[in-house]
Amino acid sequence: MQTTPDHKLHVAIIMDGNGRWAEARGLPRPAGHQVGADTVRAIVRSAIARDIGALSLYAFSTYNWRRSEAEVAGMMALLRHFLLVEARQLRDANVRISILGRRDRLPLGLVKAIAAAERSTAACTGLHLRVAIDYSARDAILAAAAAGPEAIAAELGTEDVDFLIRTGGDQRLSDFMLWECAQAELYFTRVKWPDFGPAEFDTALAEYGTRVRSFGGNVEPVRAMAG
Ligand code: IPE
Ligand code: IPE
Ligand code: MG
Repeated sequence: MQTTPDHKLHVAIIMDGNGRWAEARGLPRPAGHQVGADTVRAIVRSAIARDIGALSLYAFSTYNWRRSEAEVAGMMALLRHFLLVEARQLRDANVRISILGRRDRLPLGLVKAIAAAERSTAACTGLHLRVAIDYSARDAILAAAAAGPEAIAAELGTEDVDFLIRTGGDQRLSDFMLWECAQAELYFTRVKWPDFGPAEFDTALAEYGTRVRSFGGNVEPVRAMAG
């Protein structure tokens, strides 16, 4: 299933802890999101260097609208800025960008940046970078179910997550990729997202390499990752 030698990893990350990182430094929460955006850049570079097949990042959930208007506006602006600034470099690095989640509640500027980033990287064949914005896994499953069984397979079934990382210390899924994580290995770290660098990413991937994935079988379990 997910264990053939040429299978490229699908890593998903719940990027949590930006606010607490900032508060611990006496900074406003948006400062944590700013530094968190730098972490995204670094981890995407790492994922490219490690030949990871797909990287799915949870950037904004449908529940995050409950936050203050100022924080939400800041996060939307940051996402737009990230896509506008990074899309060209990511295209040059052969990264295909896809955005998951609903778009009808996003600011128009962000919707345009999403469309431009997806369009300009559509032909890229390297890392598939998937960013979840205004995303809920339950909503995604319901939408696929409403579209019919084939849509479930096409929309959800082909993107199984191998390894799910959550930073920030909490051990929950917060409605992220519930379908795709059916057989995912889970990894929780107390490191807050702004402090999660390539070294922490390597530590996590090394841990994944020690996991034995049996997919319910009991014969010859296969190591998650060779080497
Ligand atoms: C994660 O950090 C950022 C997103 C939700 C996108 P938080 O803003 O949730 O930070 P904490 O969990 O409050 O520290
Ligand atoms: C999870 O973080 C969502 C994202 C990273 C986008 P939250 O901080 O929003 O989630 P809860 O409140 O811990 O569930
Ligand atoms: Mg949080």
